[in-house]
Amino acid sequence: AKAKMIIDKDFKIAEVDKRVYGSFIEHLGRAVYNGIYQPGHSTADEDGFRRDVLELVKELEVPIIRYPGGNFVSNFYWEDSVGSKAERKPRLDLAWRTLETNEFGLGEFAKWSEKAGSDIMMAVNLGTRGITDALNLLEYCNLDTNTYYSDLRKSHGVTKPYNIKTWCLGNEMDGPWQMGHKTAAEYGRLAAETAKAMKTMDDSIELVSCGSSNIEMPTFPEWEAATLEETYEYVDYISLHNYYGNAENDTEDFFAKTQDLERFIHTVTATCDYIKAKKRSKKTLNLSFDEWNVWFHSTESDSEEMKERPWQIAPHLLEDIYSFEDAILVGLILITFLQHADRLKMACLAQLVNVIAPIMTENDGGAWKQSIYYPFLHASKYGRGTALHSIVNSTKHDSKTHEDVTDVESIAVYNEEKGEVTIFAVNRSVKEDALFEADVKCFEGYRVLEYLALENDDMKVTNSITGEKVSPKNRTDYELKDGTFTATMKKCSWNVIRLG
Ligand code: AHR
Repeated sequence: AKAKMIIDKDFKIAEVDKRVYGSFIEHLGRAVYNGIYQPGHSTADEDGFRRDVLELVKELEVPIIRYPGGNFVSNFYWEDSVGSKAERKPRLDLAWRTLETNEFGLGEFAKWSEKAGSDIMMAVNLGTRGITDALNLLEYCNLDTNTYYSDLRKSHGVTKPYNIKTWCLGNEMDGPWQMGHKTAAEYGRLAAETAKAMKTMDDSIELVSCGSSNIEMPTFPEWEAATLEETYEYVDYISLHNYYGNAENDTEDFFAKTQDLERFIHTVTATCDYIKAKKRSKKTLNLSFDEWNVWFHSTESDSEEMKERPWQIAPHLLEDIYSFEDAILVGLILITFLQHADRLKMACLAQLVNVIAPIMTENDGGAWKQSIYYPFLHASKYGRGTALHSIVNSTKHDSKTHEDVTDVESIAVYNEEKGEVTIFAVNRSVKEDALFEADVKCFEGYRVLEYLALENDDMKVTNSITGEKVSPKNRTDYELKDGTFTATMKKCSWNVIRLG
């Protein structure tokens, strides 16, 4: 396999919106309880937040975190989660058949996210609730009007508004599993009216209209067209969600799945532009891929757990343990997002702690990094700046259900401020190492700062509390001569080449 890449600082796709490195904390499993929050844990701070988890979150430099769900949001009674802890009542969460104590709520999350250095992407309940509750929540969070809900916040000791800028209008409303699931016509009207009212109350906010729960939904892409018909003028983004898995145990085909992702992004973009044309609108709608990851390892045992042992507090749910090959797919997904930096402005790795997450905790022990932590860390740290149109000529292969799959996928991000350019590349060939050449003549005088790689012969190897079998290594066996970078990329590898 081989690939040749040409990059130039003038070939720009767009400025990378840092919010593509967003993530997600849902009241689900052990994400909140025994995840980010565990009073009594040896590392807990004065608010009960686990310091070991906070450190790992901060290292990822996550700019925005979606909250409180997910499917949970369709059961979210936000008023129960604020005010004096002693008066908070437990609730049944129907999405995950879990007991929600409400010991941790909106105020605690606002405090935690500030400590983590992240903004909040807040979701309103448009499943079992509606416009009034969305408005009350917005007033509670963002206004300083000496009116009922802004005063309620103050009575809870929070004098300054939270000023949450980004709001999701419900979650996965196209999914029959959603409490209060709606048809496109029902959702479109409700979302448009909610959006109109919310923006009347606070015109500084940005709103996300619910798109399809995944590309396989029978209503995709008519859902997008029909709902945007109603919401287009009132919202700023449409959401996309998709999880990937390798239940078939076919690594080659698994790595080809970003072709499906590419098609998904392309179709949603085209649908937005179709509605724009139809409405003779001047506004361009952007994409928020606010749930994405690998998710399949735990699905079978989870449905059993929820059926057999419902209404527990913080059960072990969605605790996928990620392998080396999962990390490679995460890298491929991040490259695909950057290739679409012109329209894809936000994305949330779902999720952040314990629940399909890069960070895991032991209830009675420490926190540890899963394999997928690393590609996300590298992209978040070094993928800020301008995404460059990279001309890449790669050999190709076919996999079981995909054709013409490039062996090497790559993208470069130029950080003008720092005077650095980073090439992210995956050799997804399962058969051959790839000879990789990048023409970087335009970056005269640049030297290789670092070449990090995730490489492993065992696709199924995982990390755990006892040790990291998947972690990046520093490579020194490359050449940079006459403006051409050359290296051999191992088969199935994630590569980060930093020049500056
Ligand atoms: O992230 C886990 C779940 O996946 C979310 O709650 C839901 O929105 C999606 O189906």
